[in-house]
Amino acid sequence: MSEYIPMQAEIEDIDRVTSDTYLISLHILEGKGLSYRPGQFIMVSVFGLGECPISIASSPTRDTLQICIRRAGRITSGIMDSRIGDVLGVRGPCGNGFPLERMGRDILIAGGGSGFATLRSLVNYIVDRRRSFGDVTVIYGARTSQDLYFMQEYKGWQMAGLSVGITVDVGDDSWTGNVGMVTSLLDRLEVSVGSAAICGPPVMINSVANTLLTMGFSNSDIYISLERHMKCGLGKCGHCNIGPHHVCQDGPVFSYDRVRSLLESL
Ligand SMILES: Cc1cc2nc3c(=O)[nH]c(=O)nc-3n(C[C@H](O)[C@H](O)[C@H](O)COP(=O)(O)OP(=O)(O)OC[C@H]3O[C@@H](n4cnc5c(N)ncnc54)[C@H](O)[C@@H]3O)c2cc1C
Ligand code: FES
Repeated sequence: MSEYIPMQAEIEDIDRVTSDTYLISLHILEGKGLSYRPGQFIMVSVFGLGECPISIASSPTRDTLQICIRRAGRITSGIMDSRIGDVLGVRGPCGNGFPLERMGRDILIAGGGSGFATLRSLVNYIVDRRRSFGDVTVIYGARTSQDLYFMQEYKGWQMAGLSVGITVDVGDDSWTGNVGMVTSLLDRLEVSVGSAAICGPPVMINSVANTLLTMGFSNSDIYISLERHMKCGLGKCGHCNIGPHHVCQDGPVFSYDRVRSLLESL
Protein backbone atom coordinates (compact mmCIF):
# COMPACT_ATOMS: atom_id res chain seq x y z
CA MET A 1 0.00 0.00 0.00
CA SER A 2 1.22 3.57 -0.77
CA GLU A 3 2.78 5.33 2.19
CA TYR A 4 0.49 8.28 1.39
CA ILE A 5 -2.70 6.28 1.92
CA PRO A 6 -3.97 6.18 5.51
CA MET A 7 -5.08 2.98 7.20
CA GLN A 8 -8.42 3.00 8.99
CA ALA A 9 -8.20 3.00 12.80
CA GLU A 10 -11.23 2.67 15.03
CA ILE A 11 -11.35 4.56 18.34
CA GLU A 12 -11.63 1.87 21.06
CA ASP A 13 -11.41 4.01 24.16
CA ILE A 14 -11.05 7.64 25.26
CA ASP A 15 -9.60 8.65 28.66
CA ARG A 16 -9.31 12.17 30.00
CA VAL A 17 -5.70 13.04 30.89
CA THR A 18 -6.17 16.76 31.71
CA SER A 19 -8.92 19.28 30.92
CA ASP A 20 -7.59 19.77 27.37
CA THR A 21 -5.88 16.41 26.71
CA TYR A 22 -7.26 12.92 25.99
CA LEU A 23 -5.58 9.53 25.73
CA ILE A 24 -7.13 7.73 22.77
CA SER A 25 -6.83 3.98 22.14
CA LEU A 26 -6.95 2.90 18.51
CA HIS A 27 -7.52 -0.39 16.77
CA ILE A 28 -6.07 -0.59 13.25
CA LEU A 29 -8.72 -2.23 11.08
CA GLU A 30 -6.38 -3.36 8.29
CA GLY A 31 -3.50 -5.85 8.15
CA LYS A 32 -1.50 -6.87 11.22
CA GLY A 33 -1.63 -3.55 13.04
CA LEU A 34 1.35 -1.27 13.49
CA SER A 35 4.92 -2.25 14.32
CA TYR A 36 6.78 0.66 15.90
CA ARG A 37 9.42 1.71 18.41
CA PRO A 38 9.29 4.26 21.26
CA GLY A 39 9.79 7.79 19.93
CA GLN A 40 8.10 7.28 16.55
CA PHE A 41 4.97 9.15 15.50
CA ILE A 42 2.00 8.61 13.21
CA MET A 43 0.17 10.95 10.83
CA VAL A 44 -3.44 11.03 12.05
CA SER A 45 -6.23 12.29 9.81
CA VAL A 46 -9.83 13.25 10.37
CA PHE A 47 -12.02 13.07 7.27
CA GLY A 48 -12.69 16.57 5.92
CA LEU A 49 -10.31 18.31 8.33
CA GLY A 50 -6.80 17.13 7.41
CA GLU A 51 -3.83 15.33 8.89
CA CYS A 52 -1.19 16.09 11.53
CA PRO A 53 1.74 14.30 13.24
CA ILE A 54 1.00 12.74 16.63
CA SER A 55 3.47 10.87 18.83
CA ILE A 56 2.75 7.28 19.73
CA ALA A 57 2.15 7.31 23.49
CA SER A 58 1.91 3.54 23.98
CA SER A 59 4.71 1.00 24.18
CA PRO A 60 5.08 -1.60 21.41
CA THR A 61 5.29 -4.19 24.21
CA ARG A 62 1.55 -3.67 24.83
CA ASP A 63 -1.41 -4.55 22.61
CA THR A 64 -3.17 -1.22 22.29
CA LEU A 65 -1.96 1.67 20.13
CA GLN A 66 -2.48 4.91 22.06
CA ILE A 67 -2.13 8.61 21.25
CA CYS A 68 -2.38 11.56 23.59
CA ILE A 69 -4.10 14.56 22.00
CA ARG A 70 -4.03 18.16 23.24
CA ARG A 71 -6.58 20.52 21.73
CA ALA A 72 -4.60 22.95 19.55
CA GLY A 73 -6.59 23.66 16.39
CA ARG A 74 -8.86 22.12 13.77
CA ILE A 75 -7.47 18.60 13.50
CA THR A 76 -6.73 17.94 17.16
CA SER A 77 -10.22 19.25 18.03
CA GLY A 78 -11.67 16.95 15.36
CA ILE A 79 -9.87 13.99 16.93
CA MET A 80 -10.94 14.95 20.46
CA ASP A 81 -14.57 15.49 19.43
CA SER A 82 -14.73 11.99 17.90
CA ARG A 83 -16.43 9.18 19.81
CA ILE A 84 -15.71 5.55 20.57
CA GLY A 85 -16.40 3.59 17.36
CA ASP A 86 -15.49 6.48 15.04
CA VAL A 87 -12.76 5.84 12.46
CA LEU A 88 -9.63 7.97 11.99
CA GLY A 89 -6.93 7.70 9.31
CA VAL A 90 -3.43 6.64 10.36
CA ARG A 91 -0.19 6.67 8.30
CA GLY A 92 3.11 5.43 9.59
CA PRO A 93 4.90 4.76 11.82
CA CYS A 94 7.06 7.76 10.85
CA GLY A 95 10.49 8.93 11.96
CA ASN A 96 13.31 7.12 13.67
CA GLY A 97 12.40 6.67 17.35
CA PHE A 98 14.87 6.31 20.24
CA PRO A 99 17.99 4.23 19.38
CA LEU A 100 17.55 1.76 22.25
CA GLU A 101 20.34 -0.45 20.92
CA ARG A 102 22.80 2.44 21.45
CA MET A 103 21.38 3.86 24.68
CA GLY A 104 22.80 1.32 27.12
CA ARG A 105 21.27 0.21 30.43
CA ASP A 106 21.29 3.40 32.53
CA ILE A 107 18.83 5.93 31.14
CA LEU A 108 17.53 9.30 32.29
CA ILE A 109 14.17 10.31 30.81
CA ALA A 110 13.22 14.01 31.07
CA GLY A 111 9.90 15.43 29.94
CA GLY A 112 8.34 18.87 29.91
CA GLY A 113 4.63 19.57 29.34
CA SER A 114 2.91 17.70 26.53
CA GLY A 115 6.28 16.35 25.34
CA PHE A 116 5.86 13.65 27.98
CA ALA A 117 3.44 11.71 25.72
CA THR A 118 6.19 10.26 23.51
CA LEU A 119 8.35 9.50 26.58
CA ARG A 120 5.54 7.42 28.13
CA SER A 121 6.10 4.96 25.28
CA LEU A 122 9.77 4.66 26.28
CA VAL A 123 9.05 4.46 30.03
CA ASN A 124 6.51 1.65 29.60
CA TYR A 125 8.83 -0.15 27.18
CA ILE A 126 11.55 -0.12 29.87
CA VAL A 127 9.06 -1.25 32.56
CA ASP A 128 8.06 -4.22 30.36
CA ARG A 129 11.70 -5.11 29.54
CA ARG A 130 13.03 -4.23 33.00
CA ARG A 131 15.83 -6.82 33.07
CA SER A 132 17.45 -5.29 29.97
CA PHE A 133 17.94 -1.96 31.76
CA GLY A 134 19.83 -0.75 34.83
CA ASP A 135 19.32 2.54 36.70
CA VAL A 136 16.42 4.37 35.10
CA THR A 137 15.26 7.80 36.26
CA VAL A 138 12.17 9.64 35.03
CA ILE A 139 11.84 13.38 35.64
CA TYR A 140 8.84 15.34 34.45
CA GLY A 141 7.52 18.85 34.88
CA ALA A 142 4.27 20.60 33.93
CA ARG A 143 2.91 24.09 34.55
CA THR A 144 0.53 23.14 37.38
CA SER A 145 -0.55 19.86 39.03
CA GLN A 146 -3.72 19.94 36.87
CA ASP A 147 -1.50 19.81 33.76
CA LEU A 148 0.43 16.65 34.76
CA TYR A 149 -0.01 13.69 32.41
CA PHE A 150 -0.41 10.02 33.45
CA MET A 151 -0.39 10.63 37.24
CA GLN A 152 -1.98 7.25 37.97
CA GLU A 153 1.00 5.49 36.35
CA TYR A 154 3.88 6.91 38.45
CA LYS A 155 3.39 4.39 41.32
CA GLY A 156 3.66 1.44 38.93
CA TRP A 157 6.87 2.86 37.45
CA GLN A 158 8.33 3.20 40.96
CA MET A 159 7.26 -0.35 41.82
CA ALA A 160 9.17 -1.49 38.72
CA GLY A 161 12.29 0.07 40.23
CA LEU A 162 12.37 3.32 38.28
CA SER A 163 13.26 6.49 40.15
CA VAL A 164 10.51 9.06 39.46
CA GLY A 165 10.63 12.81 40.15
CA ILE A 166 7.75 15.16 39.36
CA THR A 167 7.64 18.94 39.56
CA VAL A 168 5.31 21.83 38.68
CA ASP A 169 6.14 25.44 37.80
CA VAL A 170 3.35 26.84 39.95
CA GLY A 171 2.24 25.12 43.17
CA ASP A 172 -1.25 25.22 44.73
CA ASP A 173 -3.02 23.97 47.86
CA SER A 174 -3.57 20.50 46.39
CA TRP A 175 0.13 20.02 45.50
CA THR A 176 2.61 18.79 48.11
CA GLY A 177 5.39 17.86 45.70
CA ASN A 178 8.33 19.75 44.20
CA VAL A 179 7.86 23.24 42.73
CA GLY A 180 10.48 24.44 40.26
CA MET A 181 12.13 23.61 36.96
CA VAL A 182 12.66 20.01 35.81
CA THR A 183 16.40 20.54 36.29
CA SER A 184 15.84 21.13 40.04
CA LEU A 185 14.95 17.41 40.29
CA LEU A 186 18.42 16.46 39.11
CA ASP A 187 19.86 17.74 42.43
CA ARG A 188 17.40 15.65 44.44
CA LEU A 189 17.66 12.29 42.69
CA GLU A 190 20.62 9.99 42.28
CA VAL A 191 21.20 9.77 38.56
CA SER A 192 23.65 7.32 36.98
CA VAL A 193 25.57 8.78 34.06
CA GLY A 194 24.53 6.95 30.90
CA SER A 195 22.25 8.13 28.13
CA ALA A 196 19.26 10.48 28.21
CA ALA A 197 15.98 10.97 26.36
CA ILE A 198 14.46 14.46 26.50
CA CYS A 199 11.25 15.91 25.06
CA GLY A 200 9.70 19.28 25.82
CA PRO A 201 9.91 22.93 24.82
CA PRO A 202 13.31 23.95 23.32
CA VAL A 203 14.25 26.05 26.38
CA MET A 204 13.63 23.07 28.68
CA ILE A 205 15.58 20.72 26.39
CA ASN A 206 18.60 23.04 26.40
CA SER A 207 18.48 23.57 30.13
CA VAL A 208 18.26 19.82 30.94
CA ALA A 209 20.91 18.92 28.34
CA ASN A 210 23.35 21.55 29.61
CA THR A 211 22.90 20.34 33.20
CA LEU A 212 23.51 16.75 32.07
CA LEU A 213 26.73 17.80 30.32
CA THR A 214 28.00 19.24 33.64
CA MET A 215 27.12 15.91 35.29
CA GLY A 216 29.35 13.99 32.88
CA PHE A 217 26.87 12.91 30.19
CA SER A 218 28.29 13.08 26.69
CA ASN A 219 26.70 15.19 23.92
CA SER A 220 26.24 12.14 21.74
CA ASP A 221 24.43 10.15 24.47
CA ILE A 222 21.73 12.79 24.98
CA TYR A 223 18.78 12.17 22.65
CA ILE A 224 16.12 14.81 22.13
CA SER A 225 12.78 14.54 20.39
CA LEU A 226 11.80 17.62 18.35
CA GLU A 227 8.40 18.84 17.18
CA ARG A 228 8.16 20.84 13.92
CA HIS A 229 5.18 21.64 11.72
CA MET A 230 4.86 18.87 9.13
CA LYS A 231 2.97 18.12 5.93
CA CYS A 232 4.09 14.90 4.23
CA GLY A 233 5.88 13.14 7.12
CA LEU A 234 7.95 11.39 4.45
CA GLY A 235 10.99 13.62 3.90
CA LYS A 236 9.59 15.01 0.63
CA CYS A 237 8.12 18.50 1.20
CA GLY A 238 10.76 20.26 3.33
CA HIS A 239 8.10 21.70 5.65
CA CYS A 240 9.71 20.35 8.81
CA ASN A 241 13.35 21.23 8.13
CA ILE A 242 15.64 22.38 10.91
CA GLY A 243 18.95 23.31 9.28
CA PRO A 244 19.84 20.43 6.93
CA HIS A 245 17.64 17.89 8.75
CA HIS A 246 14.13 16.69 7.82
CA VAL A 247 12.69 16.29 11.33
CA CYS A 248 10.02 13.90 10.01
CA GLN A 249 12.55 11.40 8.68
CA ASP A 250 16.01 12.07 10.12
CA GLY A 251 14.22 12.62 13.47
CA PRO A 252 12.17 13.42 15.43
CA VAL A 253 14.91 11.97 17.70
CA PHE A 254 18.39 13.52 17.33
CA SER A 255 21.51 13.24 19.42
CA TYR A 256 22.26 16.59 21.05
CA ASP A 257 25.62 16.96 19.30
CA ARG A 258 23.83 16.93 15.91
CA VAL A 259 21.33 19.72 16.63
CA ARG A 260 22.66 21.67 19.61
CA SER A 261 23.57 24.86 17.72
CA LEU A 262 20.36 24.76 15.65
CA LEU A 263 18.23 24.23 18.76
CA GLU A 264 19.72 27.23 20.54
CA SER A 265 18.53 29.45 17.67
CA LEU A 266 14.89 28.20 17.76
C1 LIG B 1 6.68 14.68 15.76
C2 LIG B 1 5.47 15.37 16.33
C3 LIG B 1 4.73 14.76 17.32
C4 LIG B 1 3.59 15.40 17.83
N1 LIG B 1 2.89 14.76 18.79
C5 LIG B 1 1.75 15.30 19.25
C6 LIG B 1 0.98 14.60 20.22
O1 LIG B 1 1.33 13.50 20.67
N2 LIG B 1 -0.18 15.17 20.65
C7 LIG B 1 -0.61 16.39 20.17
O2 LIG B 1 -1.70 16.84 20.59
N3 LIG B 1 0.10 17.09 19.26
C8 LIG B 1 1.28 16.57 18.80
N4 LIG B 1 2.01 17.24 17.86
C9 LIG B 1 1.60 18.59 17.48
C10 LIG B 1 0.50 18.61 16.43
O3 LIG B 1 0.86 17.85 15.30
C11 LIG B 1 0.30 20.08 15.99
O4 LIG B 1 -0.09 20.87 17.08
C12 LIG B 1 -0.71 20.22 14.85
O5 LIG B 1 -0.46 21.44 14.19
C13 LIG B 1 -2.14 20.22 15.36
O6 LIG B 1 -3.03 20.47 14.28
P1 LIG B 1 -4.36 21.32 14.50
O7 LIG B 1 -5.05 21.43 13.19
O8 LIG B 1 -5.14 20.75 15.63
O9 LIG B 1 -3.82 22.70 15.00
P2 LIG B 1 -3.23 23.88 14.10
O10 LIG B 1 -4.32 24.62 13.43
O11 LIG B 1 -2.15 23.33 13.24
O12 LIG B 1 -2.66 24.80 15.25
C14 LIG B 1 -1.74 24.34 16.26
C15 LIG B 1 -0.82 25.49 16.69
O13 LIG B 1 0.23 25.60 15.74
C16 LIG B 1 0.25 26.89 15.14
N5 LIG B 1 0.60 26.67 13.71
C17 LIG B 1 -0.12 26.02 12.79
N6 LIG B 1 0.54 25.95 11.61
C18 LIG B 1 1.73 26.57 11.80
C19 LIG B 1 2.88 26.82 10.99
N7 LIG B 1 2.95 26.41 9.72
N8 LIG B 1 3.95 27.46 11.54
C20 LIG B 1 3.89 27.87 12.82
N9 LIG B 1 2.84 27.67 13.64
C21 LIG B 1 1.77 27.03 13.15
C22 LIG B 1 -1.13 27.43 15.36
O14 LIG B 1 -1.12 28.84 15.41
C23 LIG B 1 -1.48 26.84 16.73
O15 LIG B 1 -0.90 27.56 17.79
C24 LIG B 1 3.17 16.66 17.34
C25 LIG B 1 3.92 17.27 16.34
C26 LIG B 1 5.06 16.65 15.85
C27 LIG B 1 5.83 17.30 14.77
S1 FES C 1 7.04 16.98 6.66
FE1 FES C 1 7.57 16.94 4.56
S2 FES C 1 9.74 16.78 4.60
FE2 FES C 1 9.15 16.58 6.67
